[in-house]
Amino acid sequence: MGGGHVGHAGIVPMAVVQNPPSIGVPMPTATIDQVIEALRPVEDPELHRSIVDLDMVHDIAVSSQGVSLTITLTVAGCPMRNEITNLVTNALTPLVNGAGVSINFGVMTDEQRQNVRTMLNGTPGATAGSSQAHGHAEGRAVPFAAKDSTTRVLLISSGKGGVGKSSVTTNLAVALAASGHTVGIVDADIYGYSIPRMLGAERDPVVIDGMLLPPENYGVRCISIGYFVPEGEAVIWRGPMLHKALEQFLTDVFWDEPDYLLIDMPPGTGDIALSLSQYLPRGEVFVVTTPQEAAQKVARLSAAMAKKVNLTVRGVIENMSWFTGDDGKRYELFGSGGGAELAAELEVPLLAQIPLVTQLREGGDDGHPIAAIAPESEAGAAFHALAAQIVAMKPKKIFSAGLKMV
Ligand SMILES: Nc1ncnc2c1ncn2[C@@H]1O[C@H](COP(=O)(O)OP(=O)(O)OP(=O)(O)O)[C@@H](O)[C@H]1O
Ligand SMILES: [Mg+2]
Repeated sequence: MGGGHVGHAGIVPMAVVQNPPSIGVPMPTATIDQVIEALRPVEDPELHRSIVDLDMVHDIAVSSQGVSLTITLTVAGCPMRNEITNLVTNALTPLVNGAGVSINFGVMTDEQRQNVRTMLNGTPGATAGSSQAHGHAEGRAVPFAAKDSTTRVLLISSGKGGVGKSSVTTNLAVALAASGHTVGIVDADIYGYSIPRMLGAERDPVVIDGMLLPPENYGVRCISIGYFVPEGEAVIWRGPMLHKALEQFLTDVFWDEPDYLLIDMPPGTGDIALSLSQYLPRGEVFVVTTPQEAAQKVARLSAAMAKKVNLTVRGVIENMSWFTGDDGKRYELFGSGGGAELAAELEVPLLAQIPLVTQLREGGDDGHPIAAIAPESEAGAAFHALAAQIVAMKPKKIFSAGLKMV
């Protein structure tokens, strides 16, 4: 696999980041407890947990030079090191009275990493006991299948390739995150993966004790086969290998119970769609189509597939609906009415019409989704409105195991 920083235990890179104290400043008066309390709100940027609770803070010392401490990173060469430095320095600056904050970096031992992993797996929804009713694979539970899972799983599908599924998945995810939700994307298009590039999250995932930390950008975490195959090489997996990869994407990744998990489906109705429907019995299907009649016919097939595997189609998203010219006029390059017709036929709402815009394609090519960089533009706003509609829809099923019918 291309990613990972595994197997580096024992290497302890030391680095000192120091703000030299200015001459004549008063001695810091902070106690060690105050330092700990000031650091408690600082979260590890990937694990989204307090660095104090993760037991990453050690060797705190307060002297006339200021505060010094050691942060033990989960893995050597942790890509988040600069960010952690800034967060820790900012948190301690008010305490040190103008003196310095000096941070040494170390790396966790295998045992400490295991403790972290145990702590994280203990989060609700990821526990085996609550998750075994459905969707388990080889004895391991898929957290999103659990009765008490609060994650809404949105499967973005289409019958035909190239209609904009991945663009819709990426921008919808960014818009959901921007409105305060926690969001993940599984790039299930194993042969035609594209999410890491579109989201601008191309850094390899870090691996802690067998658990993958999904790379994140614009508040959206994602996992993709793209992280595991060398650039330019084709994925040639079939049946069982595909099934296994998808299972790992759902069970071995630290998703941390996001509010929304979006699945960028491959086109058509092959093995992957069937595997996913087994793992994600609560999945809600959204069909992306273009206004063209041909695309609409194929999308109809994908909706029929969703019915076959017992997933609910919740809505239609029409993409490439029109192009607005410099003259302000809308040009319907791919015809009109396809989305509305399909929605009527499926008896679900047409949730959005996304215009054709150059900035959307460019943003997909260079990792700047239009919903993030131009949220007020015509297409950017359409994605934000789509996100708001999906949030307002609420899941069809009652997820809380605590609720009973009376
Ligand atoms: N509304 C739009 N305006 C401009 N370009 C778009 C729009 N939607 C998608 N595109 C571009 O069209 C191409 C195909 O889109 P995308 O990759 O999202 O489709 P897809 O359905 O995921 O395709 P595939 O079946 O190959 O996975 C991309 O280059 C994308 O940037
Ligand atoms: Mg795609």
